Amino acid sequence: MKRFPSEFADLLTPKGRRILEGRDTSVSGALLDPARRFVSLQGVVDATRAAACRNALDAALNDTLVRMEDPIPVDSISGMTMNYMELLPKTVRVRTALLENRRSRSWRAAEAVGLTTMLRSDTFAAFAASVSGRVLRRNWGIQVLCYGPGDYSGPHNDHHPEEAEARAGYVDMHVSLTMPGVDHQYLVYEKDGHLSEMTRVSTVGGITVYRLPFWHYTTPLLAKRGKEDQSRRWVLLGTFLDAAPQARPSSTVPPPGTGARPPARGT
Ligand SMILES: [Fe+2]
Repeated sequence: MKRFPSEFADLLTPKGRRILEGRDTSVSGALLDPARRFVSLQGVVDATRAAACRNALDAALNDTLVRMEDPIPVDSISGMTMNYMELLPKTVRVRTALLENRRSRSWRAAEAVGLTTMLRSDTFAAFAASVSGRVLRRNWGIQVLCYGPGDYSGPHNDHHPEEAEARAGYVDMHVSLTMPGVDHQYLVYEKDGHLSEMTRVSTVGGITVYRLPFWHYTTPLLAKRGKEDQSRRWVLLGTFLDAAPQARPSSTVPPPGTGARPPARGT
């Protein structure tokens, strides 16, 4: 029943392998530029394999997900006392798999299709280390989201000022696995103080890598007419903290070519 390869490297195209190995200078270390918070990559995951993984994921996990919903607060308008002083907290509607809980149905289903093994593989983290250009900490977080018709996340910045290890910034990597019934979904993000940039994320195997925090939102997923039942965008996520400067090498994942351990190769 396992469908995902045990190493992320085995999903990659030759272009993706070059990035993993630090041989694509246009991408490797791209997020070290403080002006560049976000990289969107196409053609790095093999489309045929990605589609097979997506189908297995959809069959195994669709019935196990938990709804996550934070609507606009009901008093956000009626509670205002001054003009133009509206405040919008993060709003969201999406479904998620509870992969932290080993007793959850989602965890068992994700194990059965080989998803958790792949998200924990050395080459998954090594890819994030390569694009971010940073030495990352092992024990990264993993998550699965599923956007159905009308699901979205409102403007937010993912800043975590209360967490010492994350407050100076951290790295997120997302792999999109979109079903054929989806018409579109976009990520809108900030540039020069305006939410003016937009990239399509309803891809099959597209990878987006983020140096958070920065302002962004995900537009409502739009289904193709009559295809609502088959309209889902799955997102595989890894969240990576920067390694501490004096961290033991065994507790870190370095970018390729830094003289430390090379990333483990897939078969
Ligand atoms: Fe976000």
